[in-house]
Amino acid sequence: MKIVNVVGARPNLMKIAPLVAEMHRVPDLEPVLVHTGQHYDQNMSRVFFEELGIPLADYNLEIGSGTHAWQIAQVLLALEPLLQKLSPDLVVVVGDVNSTVAGALVASRLGIPVAHVEAGLRSFDRTMPEEINRVVTDAISDYLFTSEPSANENLRREGIPEEKIFFVGNVMIDTLLTHRDRAGRLGMPRRFGLTPGDYALVTLHRPSNVDDPEALGGMLEVFVDLQTRLPVVFPVHPRTWRRLSDWGFVERVRSAGNLIIVEPLGYLEFLGLLAQARMVLTDSGGIQEEATILEVPCLTLRNNTERPVTIAEGTNELVGTSPERILTAARRVLHGEVKNGHRPDLWDGRAAERIVRVLCDRVAGQLLKA
Ligand code: UD1
Repeated sequence: MKIVNVVGARPNLMKIAPLVAEMHRVPDLEPVLVHTGQHYDQNMSRVFFEELGIPLADYNLEIGSGTHAWQIAQVLLALEPLLQKLSPDLVVVVGDVNSTVAGALVASRLGIPVAHVEAGLRSFDRTMPEEINRVVTDAISDYLFTSEPSANENLRREGIPEEKIFFVGNVMIDTLLTHRDRAGRLGMPRRFGLTPGDYALVTLHRPSNVDDPEALGGMLEVFVDLQTRLPVVFPVHPRTWRRLSDWGFVERVRSAGNLIIVEPLGYLEFLGLLAQARMVLTDSGGIQEEATILEVPCLTLRNNTERPVTIAEGTNELVGTSPERILTAARRVLHGEVKNGHRPDLWDGRAAERIVRVLCDRVAGQLLKA
């Protein structure tokens, strides 16, 4: 069975790593890796291949940056002839980025079955580009692999037949559990001159938080205030960096002596820092899940989350985007008022194994029938 796995952006890489590794363990599977090139910088792409041991992509479509419509269109144009040439039995897409929806669209139009890993998550906020990507990808996928019970409910509500839905756990957590010890051995806090457990980590890249000067300015005020209480490490995403320079915020950020600004970090470096942080403030999706497993208090700088299990069972708290509310929540954490979570069901490091087992049983079964 030939399986084309499509990746494009940074968070796809942590999700595809355990899947491709598992596919390589099964003799009858022929995994092919296609990178769309949505992310292309060394520290947004290559470093993850190296650190996570992902085989180099067999094909790179090199689409690069552009508007969302342009990006999706470029993947459609470049991927269609490649899939026609490769003629795979299945296409696997992961997560919710533009490359995910584009990969699913091309495959489904060519009549190739599509598997979506991390299906069914919903923020119910259609202003988020990822939400549209999720809804469209799920509607045209044939195998929907879910990571938390809310996803199954969402898919059922949208009329997806039960036999297409498989609750398998979280592939991102497979990767975290595999690499946690290695990341710990890097001694990341000390590399930044920090004391383990005595610094905050922040990340920010959602268009709603960084593409508006007022919103971004408000977030910076939070970080500048927080760094008067404890050191704050801020690895800056390229989208955010561009906005900081466009709107003249760089000086403000640099003048805050306890705010440590760094380039985007590799997977192991970031994991090493996250694991020992007093708290993380973020608008990322994946970090809410990682913080839950690492039992690090997570303040999510958004008004909604597509990952409600991290709130119901994990360390995550939605604190919105108002600076006062965020700072109040951060102060509570500093005073030791933290949520105690527990590990969500099936976030046990074996999600990729379950997915590949389903693919072998179901897809191979369909092929034999045909
Ligand atoms: C994308 C995903 C988002 C994910 C995020 C993780 C979509 C709609 N969004 O957002 O869900 O959480 O990746 O990082 O797919 N850039 C570089 N170098 C790179 C890549 C991007 O400099 O390697 C810059 C470019 O200026 C680009 C901007 O970052 O225009 C944004 O990149 P893009 O891929 O469009 O979206 P992200 O904000 O990264």
